[in-house]
Amino acid sequence: MTVTIVGSQLGDEGKGGIVDLYGDAADIVVRYQGGDNAGHTVVYDDEKYKLSLVPSGAIRGKVGVLGNGCVVNPRTLFDEIDDLRERGLDPDVRVAERAHAILPYHRRLDGIEEEAKADSDLDAGTTGRGIGPTYEDKVGRRGIRIGDLLDPDVLRDRLEYVVPQKRAIVEDVYELEAGEELDIDALFEEFSEFGRRLREEEMTINAGEFVSDRIAAGDNVVFEGAQGTSIDIDHGIYPYVTSSNPTAGGACTGTGIAPTTVGQGEIVGIVKAYLSRVGTGPLPTELEGDEESEDLAHYIREEGGEYGTVTGRPRRVGWLDMPMLRHATRASGFTGLAVNHVDVLAGLDEVKVGHSYTLDGEETFTMPPTTERWGECEPNYRTFDGWTDANWDLVADEGYDAIPANAREYLEYVSDELDTPIYAVGVGPNREQTAVLEHPF
Ligand code: IMP
Repeated sequence: MTVTIVGSQLGDEGKGGIVDLYGDAADIVVRYQGGDNAGHTVVYDDEKYKLSLVPSGAIRGKVGVLGNGCVVNPRTLFDEIDDLRERGLDPDVRVAERAHAILPYHRRLDGIEEEAKADSDLDAGTTGRGIGPTYEDKVGRRGIRIGDLLDPDVLRDRLEYVVPQKRAIVEDVYELEAGEELDIDALFEEFSEFGRRLREEEMTINAGEFVSDRIAAGDNVVFEGAQGTSIDIDHGIYPYVTSSNPTAGGACTGTGIAPTTVGQGEIVGIVKAYLSRVGTGPLPTELEGDEESEDLAHYIREEGGEYGTVTGRPRRVGWLDMPMLRHATRASGFTGLAVNHVDVLAGLDEVKVGHSYTLDGEETFTMPPTTERWGECEPNYRTFDGWTDANWDLVADEGYDAIPANAREYLEYVSDELDTPIYAVGVGPNREQTAVLEHPF
């Protein structure tokens, strides 16, 4: 059976903790999109592991797969694997030969373009990991795939075609100096060595075949989405988006597993009890603009540790946005919800939720398709009585009924509005700090 984990908002909903929670019952954890722009922290045996590429299940002895929809920076991949090995673990990570490789020039171009866009406020506030430029090359049919690294002749051919183009962009379009990241020989040497290592350690796979064989053999599979629905390249707040599909459809195209198979499993939407955002662009329910809102944002940011995992940037904070969640629920077909960070809001007198928007004088219940129009939406708030702090470890142990009544009211409102049951409520950063109502495996 399969369980697909999807971020329902803007990323950073705490997907890693839920993947980790379900991970014990899983045999394989498969990432289907994104790259080292994602970041998750896993606590295992009192040790903290910060990972951006290796699927968290790999720390617990599961097979971690990077599907064809991922973009893989081999430098990051091997740094993470080597670090885990030094710490006494032996992660089993497999990489789709169809996945695209992030090369050093992708990172360089990511930075250059973000800087160029900043003047017109079109910069997405990327993580600078080269994600967009790599997906651009994939779609432009000039990318270098993981499978290409295995064959030195193919790798050389691909580099000789693509690098002069990139050099021309850096030198002629932006009038900047090209460095080692655009030196064909240096790239060939480094990346053919990665290819050698991938082959020697038998890490590369035909992802669709590998995963479907395992499903046929009765394995439990978690498809782990990175980022979130509102930064999906198709369904998000374009152009302030990432360049892949975090929505559930990505689990099919990003792995080679059929929609009929993914659809027979569970699709769990991960919801943060408020909004946080590292990137740029509008945010109708953002807490900002007056002292009281800024103070609230500050409180939530500090309580929730709302600083980017990959970049360390302070995150913008806002109230829960129901139109955003209705949009996410429709796009991915959630069968269950996990609502995280409920403990972070404890201690507030009242908790607000953007129930709907007013746009052109009319009430609307989902997000408009353009970001500019979304920026014009005025939220209509519902106000809930706040809940006091609790012994959250005890709450997690005792389960849903031990959650403070006002918080339950809030959760039940979300579940009713989305017509989707709540499977889990996160009340702290570790997987043990979760009240589990339903286990999908
Ligand atoms: P990129 O994925 O680095 O190209 O960044 C594009 C947009 O997605 C930016 O607004 C980033 O802040 C955002 N983003 C990328 N990865 C994450 C993530 O893991 N969590 C939250 N936001 C992300």
